Amino acid sequence: MIKKRKMIIIVAVVISLILFAIYLAWPRASESGPSTVEKASGIIELPAPKTEGKMSVEGAIQKRRSIRKYTDEPITLEDISQLLWAAQGITDPEKGYRAAPSAGRTYPLEIYLVVGKGGVKGLLEGVYHYDPSAHALKKILEGDIRSDLAKAAHGQPWVAEAPVNIVITADYNRTTNKYGDLGARFVHMEVGHAGENIYLEATARGLATVSLGSFYEDQVKELLKIPDNENVLYIFPVGHSAS
Ligand SMILES: Cc1cc2nc3c(=O)[nH]c(=O)nc-3n(C[C@H](O)[C@H](O)[C@H](O)COP(=O)(O)O)c2cc1C
Repeated sequence: MIKKRKMIIIVAVVISLILFAIYLAWPRASESGPSTVEKASGIIELPAPKTEGKMSVEGAIQKRRSIRKYTDEPITLEDISQLLWAAQGITDPEKGYRAAPSAGRTYPLEIYLVVGKGGVKGLLEGVYHYDPSAHALKKILEGDIRSDLAKAAHGQPWVAEAPVNIVITADYNRTTNKYGDLGARFVHMEVGHAGENIYLEATARGLATVSLGSFYEDQVKELLKIPDNENVLYIFPVGHSAS
């Protein structure tokens, strides 16, 4: 009888130890390891965007500044969700209208996210493509390419130092097919709208960014494996201000 009780205690202790070991090994959302939200397909669903914030649009316009010094503090998936939504998110799901205006609703812009090691809580370093209709990211490349991206941006150090860089490209054909030569002007106006939205959203969330138009386009395209039919127009390093 005593032997049987001893056996039960030993089995209970062994099971408890196994469960404790599983608990310790389980990945946590707060660690910057593999994303707990990443599916096998490499799709990361972003948190639903919020349409209320702590700062008014007037406050963000007043406070907006180009900031080029960032701390090591990672940003969150909520930050990514808000920034990408502000740039190109769908704000009218029924009609497909987006946060930034688009000539003839041709929507020529594509958004890529370059994530540094430990740059975003719960997201591995790599290159991701934003899908506005799913409000999700799709991983397209693994690894931290920020140093190479900084070299491609004429050595601007803030590209390598920011936890993430948002890269905006455009497929001009979507707009020139409808408007001819005028379409190229429209694309440039449109990327300005998306860029200002990124600036204002970053400011409203207490984040820092700067718009970069100076880079070797062919090098950025090669690094991010951007499709041939797209041109790189803008890069936005984003992080927490160190100034
Ligand atoms: C089209 C465009 C391209 C720019 N390119 C760069 C760039 O490559 N590197 C950089 O550090 N700042 C760049 N800037 C940011 C400007 O230097 C900045 O807006 C200017 O100094 C005014 O400061 P503010 O944005 O704080 O008002 C660019 C701005 C624009 C509008």
